[in-house]
Amino acid sequence: MRKTLSTLCLILMTSCAATKLFNRDDSKKIVVAHRGASGYLPEHTLVAYAMAHSFNVDYIEPDLVMTKDNQLIIMHDIHLDKTTNVKEVFPNRKRSDGMFYAIDFTLKELKKLKVSERLKDSKRFPSDLSHFQIPSFEEFIELIQGLNKSRQKSIGIIPEIKDPEFHIKEGKDIVVKTLAVLAKYGYDKNDQAIIQCFHQNTLKRIKFQLKSKIKLFQLIADNSWKETSTDYNRLLTPEGMQEIATYAYGIGPWYPQLKDQAIMTWAHNNKLKVIPYTHRLDDLPSGVNNEEFLNELFYGYEVDGVFSDFSDNVMRFLKRN
Ligand code: G3P
Ligand code: CA
Repeated sequence: MRKTLSTLCLILMTSCAATKLFNRDDSKKIVVAHRGASGYLPEHTLVAYAMAHSFNVDYIEPDLVMTKDNQLIIMHDIHLDKTTNVKEVFPNRKRSDGMFYAIDFTLKELKKLKVSERLKDSKRFPSDLSHFQIPSFEEFIELIQGLNKSRQKSIGIIPEIKDPEFHIKEGKDIVVKTLAVLAKYGYDKNDQAIIQCFHQNTLKRIKFQLKSKIKLFQLIADNSWKETSTDYNRLLTPEGMQEIATYAYGIGPWYPQLKDQAIMTWAHNNKLKVIPYTHRLDDLPSGVNNEEFLNELFYGYEVDGVFSDFSDNVMRFLKRN
């Protein structure tokens, strides 16, 4: 669904306000390494995170799901099918729907799998050369904190809690576990972490029930994707945005959504940062080059940042390296 953007995005580019070439302060734009340096190395692997760290981005993104033995691992999907060789290693462990679920495996079992590139027929990292493991969230944090020390940086993390409703149905409280791991590594006492989620009630629970002080970030999907039970059409209104501002630091819309609604105005009126997803050099809107695309996002729409598979490219565009 998200891949069929081209037409929408061409309209987005041509309908946007004229590019503003004054009053730029690019040092404040937020660059997020989406799933690590995922344009160059398989997403959500430690090598991809180390490479992203070398780009000196502001935040590095892991997506979180839970294992059978209640560990947090880094994986975009609740299923293992698209980015691992689970079918070869555990051929008999699929569910009746034919899918292999991370939650049915222990961390030790998951460590036996190889992670490879999601986009098989692309110019990205070749699957036959891919021998990377699924990282745990704790391994990820230790890598980032270690590199922050050795490289004298303070690069933040922006974990996304994936499908909390599915986890609850499976008897796993991924939210409480995420907060516990973040607290173990001190993120409850600094501003180096932001928690993102598509499910609005999960973010409200973190803020109002669990009383976390960690910054929260509301992701916005299209209702047709059935990402969660949240009604994103309701969020994309002035009232919806006012409500988000009671618990969140910012919003992450799918970038074509910027064209239809006055999202930027509503969000900024409520002091919400707007960081859309996802900039990809190998999946640009049709008829638009990379420079034009980033120009329109940053200086046409005046977004506050962007999620990018090629975050080094965005850093160069912003003249931050
Ligand atoms: O979290 C921002 C963006 O990553 C949301 O989309 O599907 O890539 O997790 P997805
Ligand atoms: Ca994500």
